[in-house]
Amino acid sequence: MKALVLAGGAGTRLRPITHTSAKQLVPVANKPVLFYGLEAIRDAGVTDVGIIVGDTHAEIEAAVGDGAALDISVTYIRQGAPLGLAHCVLIARDFLGEEEFVMYLGDNFLIGGITALVDEFRAGSCDAQILLTKVDNPSQFGVAELGRDGQVVSLVEKPTNPTSDLALVGVYMFRAGIHEAVRAIKPSWRSELEITDALQWLIDSGRQVRPHLVSGYWKDTGRLEDMLECNRQVLETIEPRVTGSVDVHSQLIGRVVVEEGAVIERSTVRGPAIIGRDSVVRDTYVGPFTSIYFGCTLEDTEIEHSIVLEESTIRGVSRIEDSLIGKQVEVSPSSALPRAHRLMLGDHSRVSIA
Ligand code: TTP
Repeated sequence: MKALVLAGGAGTRLRPITHTSAKQLVPVANKPVLFYGLEAIRDAGVTDVGIIVGDTHAEIEAAVGDGAALDISVTYIRQGAPLGLAHCVLIARDFLGEEEFVMYLGDNFLIGGITALVDEFRAGSCDAQILLTKVDNPSQFGVAELGRDGQVVSLVEKPTNPTSDLALVGVYMFRAGIHEAVRAIKPSWRSELEITDALQWLIDSGRQVRPHLVSGYWKDTGRLEDMLECNRQVLETIEPRVTGSVDVHSQLIGRVVVEEGAVIERSTVRGPAIIGRDSVVRDTYVGPFTSIYFGCTLEDTEIEHSIVLEESTIRGVSRIEDSLIGKQVEVSPSSALPRAHRLMLGDHSRVSIA
């Protein structure tokens, strides 16, 4: 069995972060979200992994390399433009050959891994296995309608009037019949080759598409709110660990990780929270559900329920919540007159000022 991991795409919903970076590399509890998927694939016993990459290929390749550090072997497949999930299968034809495979969306996060699901698929003979989960807002997802016998009747991408609340989770399992399906379908109104259309083609051709309901935790981390929620869930499970330095005037409360080279001075960190390698936290309060990535400086500030990416500086501002702050960002107060907010924000930035 092989794996096909999708790490291209446009990432419009996470702009401006995705103007310069791959959304699959935004860290959740200080580990890129993509790595959780690759580890789940490896743990299911699949080590031959194709990764679809787009404009951000250099960054993904630098982070994942040949996969040896994760005990997998990686083949990169370039996609010239994000032409849809089924297009990814189409261009991976040579890599996949006739083998069965698991397709994993690189920005999706599934707690509990995929080992049982992969085992179940391998033991059976269906042409495709999809994972479904109940959601409150089905019109934002690919949605499946099940018949009385529990089999999939129809699949629609982001329906205006959804006929069920069962959303497609971003992990699919296929046998070689899918190649015929992705060649047969036409691009949708949004000019993408939709995987839902390919699955519908299989159903209409009498092939077996088996649904599997998952109740475990799943998020498509393509939106800020989901990213923060995912970070919260993972931080809930971390074990406290201090390999950096914490001075006697500081307090770590609850589950806190202080990574190597990090320095905490005259500060309070209330977990669950993680302070990354070589970051400095001084005269600051870090509240629950906060991940500070490596090389950051937090001084005289308060921050909670947020993710800060590498080498950013936050100094003298209170109080930051529910935020995703990019790489090498500087947030600081201004003493210059006239008193005013002075901003240099990338395209599609969002700022809420208290
Ligand atoms: P999506 O989140 O559906 O699409 P997107 O990345 O374009 O994001 P947005 O909606 O915010 O603009 O993609 C799911 C995953 O699949 C994600 O990791 C990107 C990847 N992908 C590809 O690799 N190629 C593609 O053609 C598409 C559509 C997505």
